[in-house]
Amino acid sequence: KLLEASNNGDGVSIFEENEEPQIKRSDFPSGFLFGTATSAYQVEGAYLEDGKSLSTWDVFSHSGGCEENGDVADDHYHMFLGDIELMHSIGIQAYRFSISWARILPRGRFGKVNPAGIMFYNKIIDNLILKGIKPFVTIHHVDLPQELEDRYGSWLNPEMQEEFIYFAEICFKSFGDRVKYWITINEPDLYAELAYELGVFPPSHCSEPFGNCLDGNSDLEPIIAMHNMLLAHGRAAKLYHENFQPKQGGSIGLTVHSYMYEPLTNSELDCEAAKRAFAFHSGWVLDPSIFGDYPEEVKGYLGSALPIFSLYEKKFMKNSIDFIGINHYSTTYVKDCTNSSCSATGNRAIRGFLETTGERDGVLIGELTGVEGSYVVPRGMEEIVNLIKIRYNNTPMFITENGYSSPNVQEQQLDELVNDVKRIEYHVKYLAYLAKSIREGADVRGYFAWSFMDSYEWLNGYDVRYGLHYVDRQTLTRIPKLSAIWYTNFLTNTATPL
Ligand code: NOJ
Repeated sequence: KLLEASNNGDGVSIFEENEEPQIKRSDFPSGFLFGTATSAYQVEGAYLEDGKSLSTWDVFSHSGGCEENGDVADDHYHMFLGDIELMHSIGIQAYRFSISWARILPRGRFGKVNPAGIMFYNKIIDNLILKGIKPFVTIHHVDLPQELEDRYGSWLNPEMQEEFIYFAEICFKSFGDRVKYWITINEPDLYAELAYELGVFPPSHCSEPFGNCLDGNSDLEPIIAMHNMLLAHGRAAKLYHENFQPKQGGSIGLTVHSYMYEPLTNSELDCEAAKRAFAFHSGWVLDPSIFGDYPEEVKGYLGSALPIFSLYEKKFMKNSIDFIGINHYSTTYVKDCTNSSCSATGNRAIRGFLETTGERDGVLIGELTGVEGSYVVPRGMEEIVNLIKIRYNNTPMFITENGYSSPNVQEQQLDELVNDVKRIEYHVKYLAYLAKSIREGADVRGYFAWSFMDSYEWLNGYDVRYGLHYVDRQTLTRIPKLSAIWYTNFLTNTATPL
């Protein structure tokens, strides 16, 4: 049996021993949306075509920030029609993609809107709708015009809020008649950490205590960048709610990077630390967007280092989202470090001395995927959904990303990559726990498999593959993996057990 028995601890077995996995499309509400997801820089390519300017990722990847780049990526810019055809043949009801800021506003708000950029996304949206696929649009997913970085130092500067609102408004005006689901910013929590704390995403700023971070930047940068992103989100959402939603009738949310955190031991300190880990990641974004202020845990740790929302800002931040987008892949253990020393950990300012690990008593929490620190822990899906459900009074949720990365890709043969049984297992198990949380009352309305196809995986370049479709790097041919076929069968309720 490929799927072992698994028990979530409350006595309810999802997969009884020696039984086939039971998950079916009909285990989800009929209006539940199933889809796949991508983002602009990761798939589009055409990095300097039709008036697009250089993005921060173009410059970063060309200047040695990483070995590979998205100049061509999957050439979705030219191949989107075939891709939409493939999506249609899988039978998905929704497609989540992002808009390249540098394609729409190459020079930011003081320059002109690029008509070719608008036309490109119009074509995508129209063709999706023609095929009965709902567009879910992320306005800002990691890449932004380099000019905004050069001019302002991007998210460290409150001016970026104005730039973002301007960009968002163009999106609402141009596409909002057909796009009914908007996500303002993808994973601000992780973005602030990677770009301004670890320095591995552009603009490559680091903060103490990382060894290569003697760049003179303030340790507070991740906190400031986050504050500006949050206000940019809140102001764009206010604009949408006031000026567009009444006519267009859509909804707006944002997406967080939501690992699940379990305590390393049963000690009270570790349990508190696990709770704090949530507050220092998803909570950092969701509390302000729903309650109008930072989590108490974060305030307590950061004190006066944390920027303050004015009363006016609190008011518009509060309930600024109609839904929560959850990007969930994995679960780790959390160890308290307030009372004991930790060997290695992130920035104190942003993480409050937490340390996470995938190992307890020499046993891994789950099978390791192709990405360091990312384990297969299906129960985490139910746990994170329930946690978010309880903390945010069951605000509607979408699983905006969930997926499996193939490990050691260079050593693998095409055969193995295409016959991706492990990816199917991953989706089946995670979906089973998702269905369970929905049965127990969680208001989850959709699920997006990351990703529609293998694509540019940021720091891992093309070595890590998340796709339901294999992309041949030489010819860019898309080959449906077994998981794409499984998804089709699942969606038509004809999936045969593994
Ligand atoms: C989250 C990000 O949104 C996406 O861009 C990335 O490729 C996946 N996770 C996998 O790492």
